[in-house]
Amino acid sequence: MNEAIQHRRSIRKYDGKLVEKEKIEKLLRAGMQAPSAANQQPWEFIVVENKETLQKLSNASIYATPIKNAPLGIVVLVKEELLKFPSCWQQDLAAATENILLEAVELGLGAVWLGVAPEEDRMAYIKDLFKLPKGVEAFALLAVGYSSDNKFEDRFDANRIHYERY
Ligand SMILES: Cc1cc2nc3c(=O)[nH]c(=O)nc-3n(C[C@H](O)[C@H](O)[C@H](O)COP(=O)(O)O)c2cc1C
Repeated sequence: MNEAIQHRRSIRKYDGKLVEKEKIEKLLRAGMQAPSAANQQPWEFIVVENKETLQKLSNASIYATPIKNAPLGIVVLVKEELLKFPSCWQQDLAAATENILLEAVELGLGAVWLGVAPEEDRMAYIKDLFKLPKGVEAFALLAVGYSSDNKFEDRFDANRIHYERY
């Protein structure tokens, strides 16, 4: 199996080291390389390193606390005017988000996906925090940083596979 896929876990504790600019760009390049319905690429991203903003992002939901102590946050956004197949936007952004998580492993970083959409209160909180324009909505937060946490788990389960018929 691809090593990044095999070793990716949600990492929620980070040491103080900042993520280099080149690595931040690589994370975003990975996100934008994702498949999307009709190749609509409806994503935009906000890169956050400001401590105060990261602290505010941690209040987006009761499960978003890891971002408070991360050196880097990435807000994954949808730009609705780019949508050709509107019903697919969350699938597209999930693919982009997973690509970023896998690239983080490749770069020696740890990261966690903090859910925002479809919870309307979380989406509204982030929309207000960044004063997002009409038609731009938050999909997810990613907390990213260096970490010594690594907790490989083999989840293969042959019982979940059906051949030819269920
Ligand atoms: C849609 C989605 C939303 C998630 N939201 C959160 C979250 O708000 N806070 C959090 O700490 N982890 C969140 N996670 C991470 C999951 O808890 C994690 O992926 C799961 O427990 C499996 O563990 P692993 O990522 O280490 O393999 C989310 C994951 C997904 C895919």
